Amino acid sequence: MKTLVVNAHPDFLNPNHFSIQLYHYFLEQFKNQFPEDTLEEINLYDMVIPQVTNGQLFSLWDKQAKKIALTDSEEQTAQLNQKLLEQFKSHHRIVIVEPLHNFNVTSRLKDYIDNVLVARETFRYTADGSVGLMTDDYRVLLLQGSGSIYTNNDRYTPLEFSRAYLDAIFTEMMGFDTFQIVRAQGTQVADANPSLIMKTAKQDLRSALKTFYETH
Ligand SMILES: Cc1cc2nc3c(=O)[nH]c(=O)nc-3n(C[C@H](O)[C@H](O)[C@H](O)COP(=O)(O)O)c2cc1C
Repeated sequence: MKTLVVNAHPDFLNPNHFSIQLYHYFLEQFKNQFPEDTLEEINLYDMVIPQVTNGQLFSLWDKQAKKIALTDSEEQTAQLNQKLLEQFKSHHRIVIVEPLHNFNVTSRLKDYIDNVLVARETFRYTADGSVGLMTDDYRVLLLQGSGSIYTNNDRYTPLEFSRAYLDAIFTEMMGFDTFQIVRAQGTQVADANPSLIMKTAKQDLRSALKTFYETH
C-alpha cells in the first residue's frame, strides 16, 4: 500500500518534538510490518508549496479559467501544483505529522491543502452539492502534538479545529474512507509527564495502524 508522509512541522527535523517522535515511531512500525515496502516523505517547511496569492495559484487559476497566457513563473507554479496533486492522488495512505499551533493546522499544511483540495481533481460540484473523487479506499492518519488535552469532552474539545477541519475535508469533501488521529497531548499542562504522554501515544498509534492498513 503506497504511503505518503506529509511532515507539516515547522521544525521538521527536531526529534525533541512529540509529533516528530510519533513520526519516527510510525516509521519504525512501518518497517517492521512491511519490510519490503517503501514510503514517500515530504517536509512542507523544506520545499516550495504554491500559495493562493496573486502571481501564484490565485492568478494562475484565474488566467486558466479565462484562457489567458501564463507567465513563466505561473507556468512553474502550475507544474509544481500538478506534481503535488499527482503525488497526493497516487498514495492511498496519507500520514500527516504536525504540532497544534493556535488550534489549527500549520500554515504550510493549509497551503498544501490549497494545492490538493481542488475541484475536478479531488472533488467535484454537482447540482446536489459536491462529491468526493478520492473514493477508492483512501485513508488518512493525523499524528498530532498538542499542549492541551482534547479528549476530555470539556471546553478544549471543540477548539481542536485542526482535527475537525482535516476530518471534514478528507472524508466529507474528498471522499476518503477513514480519518484517524493519534495524539501526543497535554505536553504543556502542569505536571505533564513526557514519557507517559509518549507511551500512551505509541500505544494508540499501534492500535490505529491495525485499522489504517487492514484490508477488507
Ligand atoms: C505558536 C504555538 C502555538 C500553540 N498553540 C497551541 C494551541 O492552540 N493549543 C494547544 O493545545 N497547544 C498549543 N501549543 C503548544 C504545542 O501544541 C505543544 O508544544 C505541542 O507539544 C506541539 O507539538 P510538538 O511537540 O510536536 O512540537 C502551541 C505552541 C506554539 C509554539
